[in-house]
Formats: sequence, structure tokens, C-alpha cells
Amino acid sequence: MKSNPYMPEIAVIDDIRQETVGPRAIKTFKVSFKDDRLQKGFAYKSGQTAMVSLFGKGESMFCITSSPTKKGYLEFSVMRMGKVTSALHELEEGDAIGVRGPYGNDFPLEQWKGKNLVFVGGGIGQAPLRSVYLNVLDNRDDYGDVSIIYGARTSKDLSYKEELFDFEKRPDVNLSLCLDWKFAKEGMLDEEAEEGWFKIDMKDPEKTKAPKGTTRFTGFVPQIVLVSKPKPKNTIAITCGPPIMIKYVVENLKKLGFSSDQIYTTLEMRMKCGIGKCGRCNIGSTYVCKDGPVFSLTELEKLPNEY
Ligand SMILES: Cc1cc2nc3c(=O)[nH]c(=O)nc-3n(C[C@H](O)[C@H](O)[C@H](O)COP(=O)(O)OP(=O)(O)OC[C@H]3O[C@@H](n4cnc5c(N)ncnc54)[C@H](O)[C@@H]3O)c2cc1C
Ligand code: FES
Repeated sequence: MKSNPYMPEIAVIDDIRQETVGPRAIKTFKVSFKDDRLQKGFAYKSGQTAMVSLFGKGESMFCITSSPTKKGYLEFSVMRMGKVTSALHELEEGDAIGVRGPYGNDFPLEQWKGKNLVFVGGGIGQAPLRSVYLNVLDNRDDYGDVSIIYGARTSKDLSYKEELFDFEKRPDVNLSLCLDWKFAKEGMLDEEAEEGWFKIDMKDPEKTKAPKGTTRFTGFVPQIVLVSKPKPKNTIAITCGPPIMIKYVVENLKKLGFSSDQIYTTLEMRMKCGIGKCGRCNIGSTYVCKDGPVFSLTELEKLPNEY
């Protein structure tokens, strides 16, 4: 046990994957602790987070996007936002960073054994979900149907492309990838779908007649929920992405018959300490860093509307 809980351990970047490009580019960093014993002893669960520090720049909280079923490394997917994340994007393989954690609670995967799982993600919101579905797929027999709905603005903005394109070939994963409709100043343009990406019925998504086995759609993530129509019986839905996406995903899940205790998400508040000491991340008396970041909708509905 360390005497100073803010003291990070040194980890080395083993690999960097450029997921997306542009001003809000995303990179996935695969890291391992310098101390081999520490790496072996670093136990985390899907949904947990860690503070990543860059010496002289600061530290930021990220969810651990790798699965605990894969030993020997951790992965973080980082979107370039400001000071720390931009500096992280400048790093190269072999560079050192600080990591402290793991922090927070996790998705109750034990409790979900035997259930069908529907993952609904958008943009960088796919990062926490990835740890969960990779974990589930490594324990495939423990769960029922697995559906993954993931959307981004364009095909260039999809993270984890190779992995997801591999899932298209798996008969035990129902995959629906989604590219946004293009926007113009005056509103939504009825443009042709990207080649090879099935254009859904935008007015009445439930009426979409996609050929069996279609995995690539053009539309919006919440509408794809209505196109893929997951059955609520014995099913848990896990969603993460921009707040506006989550709002409509929840609305559509409820339309399909999901109740609040069948819907889970992970919150992203501003954090400083990550260990329940600084009071930056609280919603009422709940500390997102300690009591969360994973919450069921039932739990969120009991909190003050401050998130
Ligand atoms: C529990 C948790 C999990 C997270 N997981 C991930 C992840 O997996 N991948 C990832 O890329 N990011 C994640 N984030 C967000 C990440 O921590 C912030 O983007 C990062 O701290 C920004 O630091 P910065 O110094 O680059 O930006 P700053 O220079 O501090 O700020 C730049 C801009 O980013 C905004 N910003 C800063 N912090 C946050 C925040 N916490 N939430 C939203 N906007 C913020 C600021 O308003 C400002 O506009 C997570 C945050 C939390 C709390
Ligand atoms: S981040 Fe300090 S109390 Fe949660």
C-alpha cells in the first residue's frame, strides 16, 4: 500500500494506434508498467478508470479500454481535447507516463451472466464499452446474445475499425455500425448514404427493411436502436456517448420496453483527485469518481439533475 495515493507508477508506451484524425483525433495507447511485478499485480475490472499523468503537463482521467481478460498491458483511448491530451498525442512508443488507479466501480458482469447484452456507443463513448464487450467475448458462453451498435460522424471517425470489421464476420455478435447523416448550415441534408452503408428510413426507422445481415448503416445511433429492435426480455443495455445521443438512445430503448434498471451508462464529470477527496465530481452526495462512474438509469434517476 502506498503512503501517497497521488503518486503514480511509471508505465511505458508499448504501442500507439491512430484511431481517428482531425482536431479531435483519437489515439489508443497500449502501456505496461515498468515494474513487472506491478504489472502482474494490477487488477482492474471493466468500467474502471485510471489517472494518466504526463510529467510537467498534468494528469487526466481515462477509462481503461482494454479488457482485464488480456494480461500484461493496459489500453487507453485518448481524444485530443486540451493541454494534457494534446501532450499525450505528441508522445512516441518507448516514452514514459504516470498511471495511478484503478478507480471507481465497474459494470456488474457477474450479475449479467446468462443475459443478452446490447452495447450502444458513439464517438469516444465507445472506449468504456470496449472493455466490457471484449471481456464478454472472452467469456462468450456466459452470456446470451451480444449486440453492438456503434456510430461516428464518418467512416474516418470510427475507432477500433479493424476489430469491429472482424466482428462483422462473427456469427455470435450482432453488429450495427452507423455513420451520421451529413449536416449543412440549413439543417439535415438528404444526401446519398456512403457507398456500401445502408440508408435507413429516417422518418420511420422501425420500418427500415435492411437486407438480412446488414452491419453498416447511415443514420443516427438512436435510430439504429429502433432498426435493430433489441428485445428487452432478459436483456441489459449499456450506452455511452455524447449526452444528446444518450438521451435519445434511452428514449428509444424505453419505447422498445426497456426499464430503467435494464439500462446502464458511465458518467464523465470533471475530476481532479479521482479518489473522493477533492469534491470536484460530486452529484449531491454521490462521488462519480468513487461511487461511479458506472450507474444504472434507476440510480441516476434518484440523483439531482446536475450531470
Ligand atoms: C471518468 C472519466 C473517464 C474518461 N474517459 C475518457 C476516455 O476514455 N477517453 C478520453 O479521451 N477522455 C476521457 N475522459 C475525459 C478526459 O479526462 C478529458 O478530456 C481530459 O481530462 C481533458 O484534459 P486536457 O488537459 O487535455 O483538457 P483541458 O485543457 O483541461 O480542457 C480542454 C477542453 O476539454 C474540456 N474538458 C476537460 N475535462 C473534461 C472532462 N472531464 N469532460 C469533458 N470535457 C472536459 C474542457 O472544458 C475544455 O473545453 C474521461 C473523463 C472522466 C471523468
Ligand atoms: S475527483 Fe476528487 S472527489 Fe471525485
